Amino acid sequence: MVKLLKDVADAQTHENTVRGEVRPTGQFPRVRMRRNRRDPWTRRLVAENRLSVDDLIWPVFVQEGNAKSSPIPSMPGIARHSIDRLVDAVGEAAELGIPAIAIFPVVDERLKSPEAEEAWNYDNLVCRAVSAVKAAFPHIGVICDVALDPFTSHGQDGLIRDGYVVNDETLDALIKQSLAQATAGCDVIAPSDMMDGRVGVVRDALDANGFQHVRIMSYAAKYASGFYGPFRDAVGSAGFLGAGDKKTYQMDPANTDEALREVALDLAEGADMVMIKPGLPYLDVIRRVKDKFAVPTFAYNVSGEYAMLKAAAAQGWLDYDRVMMESLLAFKRAGCDGILTYAAVEAATLLKKG
Ligand code: PBG
Repeated sequence: MVKLLKDVADAQTHENTVRGEVRPTGQFPRVRMRRNRRDPWTRRLVAENRLSVDDLIWPVFVQEGNAKSSPIPSMPGIARHSIDRLVDAVGEAAELGIPAIAIFPVVDERLKSPEAEEAWNYDNLVCRAVSAVKAAFPHIGVICDVALDPFTSHGQDGLIRDGYVVNDETLDALIKQSLAQATAGCDVIAPSDMMDGRVGVVRDALDANGFQHVRIMSYAAKYASGFYGPFRDAVGSAGFLGAGDKKTYQMDPANTDEALREVALDLAEGADMVMIKPGLPYLDVIRRVKDKFAVPTFAYNVSGEYAMLKAAAAQGWLDYDRVMMESLLAFKRAGCDGILTYAAVEAATLLKKG
């Protein structure tokens, strides 16, 4: 039996050589894949991908008030913080070595309007939060979304004319919003609105106003996804959006070629980094983008993905730490350089423990 298998293996090796293929293959019993898995030290040596704290971006929610933290029921473990509390939380992240955070504002209902004017109020909640965080922790990267949805009374990311979210007029609003955030000290502008041409106009506006160093991380391939539900609860935009959806600007989950076109356009318009969103259901898109463009590629492990693991763990059905770390590693395997994840602090804590 063993002799026979060896002959088969030799024939196979010969065949590969003749065909000129370099295939480090072979056959059982000479080849036993389990040898390298036998001990922790070999497993460590042959590990192809690794998650590090350097890969993590922590999305955080800020609200008005003082010494105030409100838990978000659909995102267990995550709270909306007043600016002082946010600074404390960012301190914890900085201590753990997390390179960057992304700030999302919970805008007071009374400040929302159809035209989203509050988005470019230089003293709005997000701008004050950015300044406070940068003053306390100059070395942590601060990322801000550019999109109107936290500020519109209808919950859409753009301005509405005759029932349609219009592109070009929205671009003017996005420019104003970007300049307000850059002035507040934001390091990375992250357009998440999916309007056509927004990266280019934002880049030009930043450059024309002395913000050449401000980076753009574009939500290049952002899908019209059901996985954003808990986030919309968190920022309070769900009720405003109502039965509306974002399918006329966010991408159809059926498409991947289209994602490559979106990424190509954003890069041509000056994006420094690109993002795919959501994350886990779109690992195929991440892999295609990384292979094709070889640029800094990020994924947003969104609120619904976070909520799923938390909910299953709360039932005792999954070991949270284990599946969370396994999920983050999946992003590395798919080709991500970094991951926006609500689990960033949890992951950094586990990585530190080793
Ligand atoms: C706003 C925005 C959304 C998310 C990030 N930025 C929601 C949306 O597009 O409706 C979702 C993040 C998450 O679900 O964690 N444009």
